[in-house]
Amino acid sequence: KKVVLAYSGGLDTSVIIPWLKENYGGCEVIAVCADIGQGDELNVVHDKALKSGASKVYIEHLTQDFLENYVWPTLQAGAVYEGKYLLGTSFARPLIAKRLVEIAQKENADAIAHGATGKGNDQVRFELTVKALAPNIKIIAPWREWTLKSREEEIAYANKHGIPVASENKTYSMDRNIWHLSHEGSDLEDPWNAPKNSMYLVSKAPEDASDKPEYISIDFEKGTPVAVNGEKMTAVALLEKLNEIGAKNGIGITDIVENRLVGMKSRGVYENPGGALLYYAHRELEYLCLDRQTFHYKETVAIRYGELVYDGMWFSQLREALAAFVDSTQQTVTGTVNLKLYKGNIMSAGAKSPYSLYSHDFVTFEADDVYDQTDATGFINLFGLPLKVRAMMQEKAGK
Ligand code: ARG
Ligand code: SIN
Repeated sequence: KKVVLAYSGGLDTSVIIPWLKENYGGCEVIAVCADIGQGDELNVVHDKALKSGASKVYIEHLTQDFLENYVWPTLQAGAVYEGKYLLGTSFARPLIAKRLVEIAQKENADAIAHGATGKGNDQVRFELTVKALAPNIKIIAPWREWTLKSREEEIAYANKHGIPVASENKTYSMDRNIWHLSHEGSDLEDPWNAPKNSMYLVSKAPEDASDKPEYISIDFEKGTPVAVNGEKMTAVALLEKLNEIGAKNGIGITDIVENRLVGMKSRGVYENPGGALLYYAHRELEYLCLDRQTFHYKETVAIRYGELVYDGMWFSQLREALAAFVDSTQQTVTGTVNLKLYKGNIMSAGAKSPYSLYSHDFVTFEADDVYDQTDATGFINLFGLPLKVRAMMQEKAGK
């Protein structure tokens, strides 16, 4: 028996290794760690998996794949969950689970295991992806099975099985990758508590940011960010650069009480410096490049797209169909956006596109000879006809 485990190097997934061996007939455990820019020492993670009893360890470098195939499409969709959350954990799960499936198939494994709890969204995202890509592989979720009830019990179990326990003082439940960092739990469990500045690991608090505004430019080609301040960069380098700029200007901190898929509300604080800049800039360009009805329709698509990503429905027919729509809208979303950053705020500072639909000739308040103002009379008569007919009915009916 072989089990492929989504491994992070933390206490939970380390304890899962001996637990699986003990509870699944001495199975072999293959640990898979996805490197998506979480900033952990990967050789330490590798050794820890072996020390915890894994028979084999895969360290998978997926950051570029993550940005190009999950983050950029979601950015292009303009998808934001419940108006605030840029989905940083949500779209990382299908990426990781897809790799787990590929490795499980290569290794001829019998099951895939993950360390998400039975109370959260992540379990759903891992498992829906496995179902979508490998309908017959067994899934093991130790958190829903084991009797370990607290961190103390986990540590005791780790000690008993010779697993190295790092003296990490973990106040918050965190999830980090190149796109975002999430904080949940501890004092945040009371929504009346403001987040403490000391909690931020990436971003400066706005009041600690520079007193001078910083101007930047971002270039997009067909909705994909390609350059910062005129310098072309790979996806990874570009986001790293924007994270650095955003973080030092206190950009991208959001605080939300969100609706989990599994029913309860939970409070989270997210650090998303580069992501906030990209969402803002991308939308600025769409203001220029999309026509009115496409722009408005796309706003409704964004909401549904965000729900699908949050719900772990990445590999669903609807998400793929909406992505095709979004892709079609992005063909002219090419150009440059200037932003002014100041103490946690992003302001527009000019935008241009070769495909801009903005026409000075049509919109100008000065004299023009392209727009015939007398056309508006007939337009308003017909556009207003239903209102007029209704008012006439109301007069007649005495209402
Ligand atoms: N609430 C966010 C979401 O559902 C973040 C979850 C963070 N996950 C974690 N294992 N710490 O996407
Ligand atoms: C977890 O339960 O493992 C983290 C929180 C979540 O998935 O929503």
